[in-house]
Amino acid sequence: MPRFLVISLALPVSLAVGLSCFTAAAAAEPSGARDHLARITQSGPAGLKAAQDAGRKAAFFCANCHGETGVSKYPEVPNLAGQHPVYVLGQIEAFLSGKRKDAFMQGLMKVLSDEEKAQIAVFLAAQPVPPSRPGAVAGEGRELFSRNCARCHGAEAKGGETFPRLAGQQDEYLRRSLHRYLKASGERIYPPMTAAVNGLGEKNIEAVVNYLSSQP
Ligand code: HEC
Ligand code: HEC
Repeated sequence: MPRFLVISLALPVSLAVGLSCFTAAAAAEPSGARDHLARITQSGPAGLKAAQDAGRKAAFFCANCHGETGVSKYPEVPNLAGQHPVYVLGQIEAFLSGKRKDAFMQGLMKVLSDEEKAQIAVFLAAQPVPPSRPGAVAGEGRELFSRNCARCHGAEAKGGETFPRLAGQQDEYLRRSLHRYLKASGERIYPPMTAAVNGLGEKNIEAVVNYLSSQP
């Protein structure tokens, strides 16, 4: 059993506690996470710093899998460090609406308040990302990436508001995600990604994974 699943089995108690807090807080929390993010962004350096500090605290449970600074401890769990806050909020919304399927993450996202989501997102965005596999050889993956992927994910795979950062991402998470898009297996639905992986070709997935996980 993967180690991170052991943690999820221990979760129900804290989830139940969190859920009851959330229900109580929900009525007093009318604005969405994106409104909180906009407010933080407009609040100047001191406001941003305060939100990041609060985000670090709110992310204590996430650290079990995604790492203390969003650099994952497991190859099948994604890094969140260096991701754009708007992308992170978009994925949290997708888990909550069921558009993105992962039983554990869908349940866990319900315990976060909208303010915590925004604070966690700005905390993670500011964290540095080391290559997940510094020794991996970039090889032909670099060329394949420039041709098939860079127009959306950026020349250096650093992503943006709507496109996830891929540079330094965990190799098994990349591999798994690309096969899921290719097969349109339903965990995530995004037809342009299915088209892109089709264009890349299944046999070239490994080369691109090697390239991306070797990047800083
Ligand atoms: C038990 C392990 C575990 C814990 C704890 C956990 N996650 Fe996750 N998280 C995962 C896994 C595994 C995935 C990938 C799911 C998939 O394959 O689609 C994921 C995916 C995500 C993603 C999508 C990332 C991307 O690149 O698209 C976000 C955002 C996220 N988690 C945020 C959080 C936050 C915030 C917390 C804390 C409140 C948290 N997670 C706690 C295991 C965990
Ligand atoms: C048309 C723009 C576009 C192109 C071209 C594209 N992507 Fe994406 N990619 C996206 C978007 C948008 C998402 C997020 C979709 C979602 O929410 O499921 C994504 C998601 C991903 C993810 C999941 C990342 C994560 O953190 O969960 C991986 C891995 C990925 N792309 C790799 C690639 C690779 C490799 C290529 C080239 C073969 C590629 N993409 C080409 C737009 C694109």
